[in-house]
Amino acid sequence: MNPITTDNMKLVFATHNKNKFNEVQTMLPDHIELLSLDDIGCNEEIEETGNTIDENAILKAEYVKNHYGHNCFADDTGLEVHSLAGAPGVFSARYAGEPKDDNANIDKLLDQLKKQNDRSARFKTVIALNLDGRENLFTGICEGHILEKRTGNMGFGYDPIFQPTGYTKSFAEMNMDEKSKISHRGIAFRELIDYLSK
Ligand code: IMP
Repeated sequence: MNPITTDNMKLVFATHNKNKFNEVQTMLPDHIELLSLDDIGCNEEIEETGNTIDENAILKAEYVKNHYGHNCFADDTGLEVHSLAGAPGVFSARYAGEPKDDNANIDKLLDQLKKQNDRSARFKTVIALNLDGRENLFTGICEGHILEKRTGNMGFGYDPIFQPTGYTKSFAEMNMDEKSKISHRGIAFRELIDYLSK
């Protein structure tokens, strides 16, 4: 038996993003009480100063553990486009500059890909879990390609222009359940949940 006790576990998910929080909450078993940064009174924006997706996830989880003392996990996601050498990658949220703007990011990416034949891309999520002084990483990858134009109006971020491999719909045409089954975040979070349930 794993020494981790999962009875009524309180865990902070280090995010201010309600979409992400809700998406993850639907996947968690009932015995895990998920708290957001707002729930613990952490109103500041935790700076993402890492050079990689992994580093950003780790530093956010450590920030909450060190400043608020809670067991915590944090995720970081990037969209890696093959013909753009992995861009926007760790800069996905602010690809078109400050302030964060999903629409401007999409416009910039479509523009960058105008002259590219290879539109293959992947989403990568890394989750860093800080639990009772131990740190673990969980990774999820979803392969796909970037569409020529926006399709669908659900989801967030690059969802309207990302079509996962093997599907004829964009992420923005999938409801949360459909998307979670195949998404980078879904894969990474199922790994986390498997670990917590052992
Ligand atoms: P974050 O690390 O989850 O905040 O993700 C960084 C950026 O990647 C977001 O601001 C979005 O632009 C993009 N992103 C992350 N996850 C998704 C997703 O599931 N669909 C579309 N875009 C996403």
